[in-house]
Amino acid sequence: MRIAIGNDHTAVELKNIIREHLEKKGYEVINIGTDSGESCDYPVYGKKVGTCVASGEADLGIAVCGTGIGISLAANKVKGIRACVCSEPYSARLSRQHNNTNVLAFGARVVGSEMAKMIVDEWLGAKFEGGRHARRVGQIMEIENEGSV
Ligand code: RB5
Repeated sequence: MRIAIGNDHTAVELKNIIREHLEKKGYEVINIGTDSGESCDYPVYGKKVGTCVASGEADLGIAVCGTGIGISLAANKVKGIRACVCSEPYSARLSRQHNNTNVLAFGARVVGSEMAKMIVDEWLGAKFEGGRHARRVGQIMEIENEGSV
């Protein structure tokens, strides 16, 4: 499985920890950057992660900024992306089982590296349950196809 991972300047260290964690588990990681601690704009990286997943280059994406919020907002603007911000594993698991999320975001200023690993593991280990959840996720995705007000 290929996982795209992208981040802003606040999350370079945590990104590298998660990247190594994933590679040890046998995942192919596409590192989108940034790899610099110089201040940069998180929307650039959120969009890149989203595009990588939406195009099929990656199966899933992980996006990290200070809070996880800004980068998830940007990823969610890419058609086909369902990104969620999670600070604990329970929501991460349910976001896959019920919401079929394809991008996971979290905040390098919010969660420590061990918690981040648990969040990632729980997210990757969970499967979409379909059924009534498929109807609801379909309703979310329909919103993308409606004209703007
Ligand atoms: C950068 O200072 C910070 O705003 C960014 O990492 C993120 O938390 C935005 O949502």
